[in-house]
Amino acid sequence: MTKRSVSRRLVTSLASPKFSLNILCLVVTVFVLLQIWLLCLKGVDDHDGSWNYYALAWPQSLPVNASLQKGLTFVSYNHYDYGNMWHGLSAMVPFIAWSLRNQCEKPQRWVLYHWGELRFGMGNWLSEIITATYGQNIEFLRFVDENKPVCFEKAVVMRHNEGGMSRERRMEVFDLIRCKARNYCNLSLSKTSKLRIVELMSMTDVLVSPHGAQLTNLVLMDRNSSVMEFYPKGWLKLAGVGQFVYQWGANWSGMRHEGSWRDPVGEICQFPDTDRRCMSVYKNGRIGYNETYFGDWATSVLGKFKVRKMEDVVERNNGYGSVNGCMC
Ligand SMILES: *[C@@H]1O[C@H](CO)[C@@H](O)[C@H](O)[C@H]1NC(C)=O
Ligand SMILES: *[C@@H]1O[C@H](CO)[C@@H](O)[C@H](O)[C@H]1NC(C)=O
Ligand SMILES: *[C@@H]1O[C@H](CO)[C@@H](O)[C@H](O)[C@H]1NC(C)=O
Ligand SMILES: *[C@@H]1O[C@H](CO)[C@@H](O)[C@H](O)[C@H]1NC(C)=O
Ligand SMILES: *[C@@H]1O[C@H](CO)[C@@H](O)[C@H](O)[C@H]1NC(C)=O
Repeated sequence: MTKRSVSRRLVTSLASPKFSLNILCLVVTVFVLLQIWLLCLKGVDDHDGSWNYYALAWPQSLPVNASLQKGLTFVSYNHYDYGNMWHGLSAMVPFIAWSLRNQCEKPQRWVLYHWGELRFGMGNWLSEIITATYGQNIEFLRFVDENKPVCFEKAVVMRHNEGGMSRERRMEVFDLIRCKARNYCNLSLSKTSKLRIVELMSMTDVLVSPHGAQLTNLVLMDRNSSVMEFYPKGWLKLAGVGQFVYQWGANWSGMRHEGSWRDPVGEICQFPDTDRRCMSVYKNGRIGYNETYFGDWATSVLGKFKVRKMEDVVERNNGYGSVNGCMC
């Protein structure tokens, strides 16, 4: 059997709807294909992932109608929503970690899948962060014709988020993101509100905020900065583990999550407050605070901060520069 016919058979056998992207992906978590096999993708579906396929091919015998994309391509395949600041960022962290280990190699293009469905963009905040990190605009590969597979000279595929990474590696990534975002912000002439956020975060020692996507900005604060988080009534019992993401996020990027205030007072729900139906009542609820409690809490957080500041002469904007070829 010639190489060409093997690869064609492989492509044909995988190119049936039953073989969705999922299957091989389950086996291969991260693979970098250099010369030996090329990754090929086929399908243009952004609603039903089972119509998108992939296969491996030899460089000498690409599938019929296939085009070859030169250079490095990042392929993100997972169930995280690239429009959501926190989820999107956690899906990007492993790619940045890969670049850090590979002389800061930049992708020439991105292919994003969400549950196997193609996505052609990220939220604004996230694309700004990625643009700053790599110092170039993001190109999303457009698949236009379902009969024309696209093969990649070199592809890095990730199907996990930062959850699988060690704390040290995550910290390295956040050090780089923080530093790149600050430089990007400083160099840019027109200060949009997004850039002001980067500047503001770089000057913030203690961030006091209600739980919500805006807290993702905490990764832009200096290491060892503090976060105090506020929740409306009902969240502890009803909001699931997602409510803890900023505690993990703070820890993973080297901040200190200094605890949470959970408002015991709020909208009245007609069901017991452990009943899921109450979430729609509590969600987006206003948060009040107890002055005595907040006073003691803030005093303690600020006190600890002051001690730390006096102990270590914190070197700002200096976290990073250890990994080869990737200075910020
Ligand atoms: C190759 O492309 C042509 C034109 O789009 C199409 O008619 C044909 O079916 C394709 N062949 C395969 C094997 O997909
Ligand atoms: C921005 O640039 C100025 C002048 O080059 C420098 O003094 C300042 O520290 C920079 N700020 C940040 C946040 O990097
Ligand atoms: C993060 O969590 C680990 C384990 O719970 C803990 O040992 C560490 O001190 C935390 N780091 C920060 C900066 O809070
Ligand atoms: C406010 O907090 C203080 C200290 O935690 C507590 O003793 C007091 O009962 C609280 N007041 C209200 C109205 O919940
Ligand atoms: C953060 O705090 C720890 C413990 O106080 C200290 O060892 C470390 O050097 C600090 N890191 C930075 C970047 O200030």
